Formats: sequence, structure tokens, C-alpha cells
Amino acid sequence: MISIKSDREIALMKEAGKYNVMVLKAVEKFLRPGITTKQIDTLVNRLIHEYGCEPSCLGYEGFPASVCVSVNDEVVHGIPGNRKIKNGDIVSVDLVLSYKGYHADATRTFIVGTVNPDIESLVKNTQAAFYAGVKEVKNGARIKDVSRAIEKYAHDHHLSVVEELVGHGIGSNMHEEPDVPNFDDGSNIRLKTGMTIAIEPMLNLGTKEVYLDDNDWTVKTVDGLPSAHYENTVLVTDTGYEILTGD
Ligand code: MF3
Ligand code: CO
Repeated sequence: MISIKSDREIALMKEAGKYNVMVLKAVEKFLRPGITTKQIDTLVNRLIHEYGCEPSCLGYEGFPASVCVSVNDEVVHGIPGNRKIKNGDIVSVDLVLSYKGYHADATRTFIVGTVNPDIESLVKNTQAAFYAGVKEVKNGARIKDVSRAIEKYAHDHHLSVVEELVGHGIGSNMHEEPDVPNFDDGSNIRLKTGMTIAIEPMLNLGTKEVYLDDNDWTVKTVDGLPSAHYENTVLVTDTGYEILTGD
């Protein structure tokens, strides 16, 4: 069953989305060479509580932090720790928080200092792939219309699509039905007004192949080349969509 949100639920998710973006903007300002990923987590945890929200990831299946911070070849689920951010790193900050029981999920990949043009276009095109996908969203559209648009955008720009991880429904749970893959998985599920989904392309500069790090959380690229991630929580409407975690 895919849940259709009431007006009240949508209003709470909008609040959650607003706070999520405020935290991400604070992280963007804070990011600089020399800080540790743990310092990002400390900032995020403090702000989430200041805004009257809860960190959805902390303790989720044992995840030990309030935010996922994935650097360079780390695709998702990077665990904040003593790693220092360096000039030329790309840092994906994947943040899920809840407000009065309703979750909002958003990810931004930030460029620290100067990166080579290939990496800069990886980051820009991952965001653009999200927009290529979200343009397909409206009542009655198929999820695979979104998936195919993201995949096509990625391939047209010579990027590969991670298939092991997918977007998802979201609401009173961080992860709900349906899956929202970034490739056509053959599903014919249709979107309906009032559904809320997280659309989240994870694109690689090199091969799409990934592996799980020894920490049992962090997913990394097999070839060691960088990966970028961009995500928003999106409401399906009669004529299109509304981004609940928009800037
Ligand atoms: N946005 C991430 C996801 O949908 C959040 C993971 S929280 C974690 O997978 F606890 F699983 F890391
Ligand atoms: Co997500």
C-alpha cells in the first residue's frame, strides 16, 4: 500500500522539509578544509534539536550518527568520524529528520575548494539528473518515467547510475513504498496526487559497480572514482509536483 498524505500530513512534511534545508545550508557554510566529518555531525545534531526535530538516521538499524557524510568515492552512508575534509573533496551530506513524526529526506553534494572539471560536472549533472526526473512527476505518471529520465540524463552525460540503492516513499516512516529507482526496473506503478517520494540519483564518474565497506554501512565505488548524490522529498500533485526540501 502506498500512502496518500492528508493536508495535515503534507503541512508537517513541509515544515520538516524547511528545517532540513536550513540544516543543509548551515552545513554548506561550515564546510571547509580541515574540519572533520564528525564536526559536521555535531553541528547537524545540534541544529536538528534546536528546530524541534529529531534525527531520523541516529540509531536507525544501529547507524551511529545523525547524518550520512560521504566523501569522494563514498556513494552513500558515510559514517562521520575523524576524517578531515580536504581541498578538492566532494562531500555528500544526506540528511533525514522528522518534525512531529513526519520525515523529510534531502541530500546535497558540496564541492570543497577547487576540483577538476570532470568532478565539477559530475556534481552539477547529478543535480540536473534529479530535475530531469522530477519533471516527469504528476498524478498518473509512472515511476519508471521518472527513473528512465534520470538514467537517460546520466548516460547522455557519460555518467553511470548506481543500481543497488534507490529512492523511496517517505512520510511517517523514513522509508515507505514505492521504490523510486534511478533506472527502469520494470515496475508499472503509477504516481497519485498526495504521494510523497524521495527522488535521489546517485551517479558515478566511472563504473556503476559499488561495494560495501568493512564498516558494514558505507557504499563505495569499486574503481575508486568519485560519486555524487542529490535528493529531495517531493509531493505529487494533480498537475506536477512540489519539492518539499527546495532551496
Ligand atoms: N537517506 C538515506 C537513505 O535513504 C538515509 C539513511 S539513514 C541511515 O538510505 F541510518 F540508514 F544511514
Ligand atoms: Co533517501
